[in-house]
Amino acid sequence: MLVSAKDMLNKARDGKYAVGQFNINNLEWTKAILLTAQEQNSPVILGVSEGAGKYMCGYKTVVGMVNGMIDELGITVPVALHLDHGSYEGAKACIDAGFSSVMFDGSHYPIEENIAKTKELVAKCEELGLSIEAEVGSIGGEEDGVIGAGECADPDECKAIADLGVTMLAAGIGNIHGKYPENWAGLSFETLAAVKEKVGNMPLVLHGGTGIPEDMIKKAISLGVAKINVNTECQLAFQEATRKYIEEGKDKQGKGFDPRKLLAPGFEAIKQTVKEKMELFGSIGKA
Ligand code: 13P
Repeated sequence: MLVSAKDMLNKARDGKYAVGQFNINNLEWTKAILLTAQEQNSPVILGVSEGAGKYMCGYKTVVGMVNGMIDELGITVPVALHLDHGSYEGAKACIDAGFSSVMFDGSHYPIEENIAKTKELVAKCEELGLSIEAEVGSIGGEEDGVIGAGECADPDECKAIADLGVTMLAAGIGNIHGKYPENWAGLSFETLAAVKEKVGNMPLVLHGGTGIPEDMIKKAISLGVAKINVNTECQLAFQEATRKYIEEGKDKQGKGFDPRKLLAPGFEAIKQTVKEKMELFGSIGKA
């Protein structure tokens, strides 16, 4: 059964570790992440961007697939199904479709509008026992065609949003989605500490988990980050393993063309990446 992300994140915050959000794209992705979480006895959050939701034929299909897998694979660790960077309409659609958690990303609106829309969705989620993530200060890089600049959030604005009763808060601290450029300045721990000071006990979310050096991840967790999002790194691992299989000509040997064989190395590579992240985040054995 899907659960809200609230308990797993409060526990992570108190225990000074972070739960990984891994974005899914299809059946292989979902199965790889769920099996790894179960093997490692770790709580997990499956992230679905609006683009990925569309690709997988809509939110109802995603909910059906994930619930079916949890049942058929005998997954007993806590799993939250979470909309990633949702619009207001997208969040409502996911709530209706059976997601257990949503992110409303109103960071591109003026703060008053972000507050008003977040507030409405908080009320809806509270009523249904779902968790909700809000964002202040847009995360840089490109996601689903939206390009953000990698801002640092205003701590007072973070407090205004946190006080609405959101479950977790994503605050921009110089992080960006995708690969980090050579000249990246690193995470702003000054901003993170200032945000933490204002929002108190609220679990904080670090987006753009791909390529952040390990020491920065650990420091961010020590400063209150309880959820870390990883997407691109699984994609790169899948791509490299699939490329290797084809470059070695394995698709032309025997029944190597069988999609279940062709996609197997990429599947294993996702599992390995997810395991490494769970180790780094400290969530292993915390289910
Ligand atoms: P990366 O693709 O950089 O890992 O970021 C993932 C993310 O933050 C999803 O919201």
